Amino acid sequence: MAETTARAAVPKGFRSAEQGWPALHRIPRPPYRLPLLGDVVGASRRTPVQDSLRLGRELGPIFRRRAFGNEFVFTWGSRLVADLADESRFAKHVGLGVANLRPLAGDGLFTAYNHEPNWQLAHDVLAPGFSREAMSGYHPMMLSVAARLTEHWDAAATDGRWVDVPGDMTKLTLETIARTGFGHDFGSFERSRPHPFVTSMVGALSHAQRLNNVPPPLAPLLLRRAGRRNAEDIARLGHIVDEVVRRRRADGHGDGDLLDRMLETAHPVTGERLSPENVRRQVITFLVAGHETTSGALSFALHYLSLHPEVADRARAEVDRVWGDTDTPAYEQVARLRYVRRVLDESLRLWPTAPAYSREATQDTVLADEHPMRRGAWTLVLIPMLHRDPEVWGADADRFDPDRFDPAAVRSRPPHTYKPFGTGARACIGRQFALHEATLVLALLLRRYDLHPDPSYRLRVTERLTLMPEGLRLRAVRRSARRAEIPGQRTDSGAAS
Ligand code: HEM
Repeated sequence: MAETTARAAVPKGFRSAEQGWPALHRIPRPPYRLPLLGDVVGASRRTPVQDSLRLGRELGPIFRRRAFGNEFVFTWGSRLVADLADESRFAKHVGLGVANLRPLAGDGLFTAYNHEPNWQLAHDVLAPGFSREAMSGYHPMMLSVAARLTEHWDAAATDGRWVDVPGDMTKLTLETIARTGFGHDFGSFERSRPHPFVTSMVGALSHAQRLNNVPPPLAPLLLRRAGRRNAEDIARLGHIVDEVVRRRRADGHGDGDLLDRMLETAHPVTGERLSPENVRRQVITFLVAGHETTSGALSFALHYLSLHPEVADRARAEVDRVWGDTDTPAYEQVARLRYVRRVLDESLRLWPTAPAYSREATQDTVLADEHPMRRGAWTLVLIPMLHRDPEVWGADADRFDPDRFDPAAVRSRPPHTYKPFGTGARACIGRQFALHEATLVLALLLRRYDLHPDPSYRLRVTERLTLMPEGLRLRAVRRSARRAEIPGQRTDSGAAS
């Protein structure tokens, strides 16, 4: 894989597991290994994460796979993952899919190597953009984007049409991050086809995933056409972002959003600023990282809510109780929706939409007193399997049950068993943003609609580095419209409009 080492002093070429894991032979691997190709029997290029989940179930909490001459170690057992969370011995590893995004996002926050100075600089400059105070400033904008979604769903409800859940959630979350972060409007709800930003982003993410499936030296040859298309996608994303930045510079400044911080804020200690090239990378990073994962989280949650009307009723009752009559809840009224949040937590347990992160040893060490690792050795943490470890989540770990996030249940579990937002210094900077946005939107939708599943739908999960329920559609029926049909009940004015 074309990558520099994560720390200057880590020996180069320490990437295939044979070099970093002296007792690799003790780690199980699939039984049928083909010469040159490796462990590809039964593997699909489209579903690498779900294949690894299947293998994980068969092979246990730590296992390895070989592909095109490189051996990779996968980890999901809760004891092992808890040990990997020790920041004094392990750190983020920029590998596989994340490294493949470097041509797109360079040393932007998500893809930066730990040693790159722009990581700390951007982290320190941008972290205040996710403070409570900043978040409460985003709240009215989140509400106004959500109103565009409900307008769209109201029209579908009136016409008796299905709603395209992943498509609409992607519009919502893209508009939300674009508006709150960069004062920009992509007009997603007014378009009949996805905005070119979304098309190019999906192209770039899919390409980054595809690169994992070809031997790195052969990628330029085997993926020549795809590589050209990817370069075009990256160029298009760059142009779109440059235009957003150009407009902001022309307009003076926004209202203290992320882009203002990127352009105007100096580091509190060193006085350094982000370079124009780095601003471009950060804008792309936030637009991509800030919407695809949240959109998937909302989509899975809506899927489960539609299948579990008793959970939807309980969540709805909470919304009615906490929000009372208002259609425009205050910022503080969102955090008080404890049960809605549990629905979201449970959906992210079963389908953490960023399904893996990598950790590397920053010193020679022994993982969980069992597996020696040399400095620079790394492993991929499979979050959906961690979240289904029967030792922690029980024999029914595949069952959807928001009560697993009841405070007493949470307290009874060991730490580091739930990691949808990654771990340590490089964990998700947008966690609170995503949770606030998704809780707010779920609550608004629950209050306004009954959600009816398509009886013929069976969950299929599509992968493009992130996870998404493919082809999920629901019927959203206005609740007030239904109440209107029940004799003797008060009719809300404009119920189904
Ligand atoms: C449900 C939604 C989300 C999920 C599941 C999620 C998940 C993650 C995970 C697992 C990581 C760590 C990756 C690693 O260790 O390699 C991460 C990092 C990151 N996320 Fe999120 N994320 C979500 C929403 C957001 C949002 C809304 C934003 C921005 C507004 C965002 C921005 C970032 C950034 C910039 C990083 C890199 C942080 C760093 O390395 O300093 N994410 N996210």
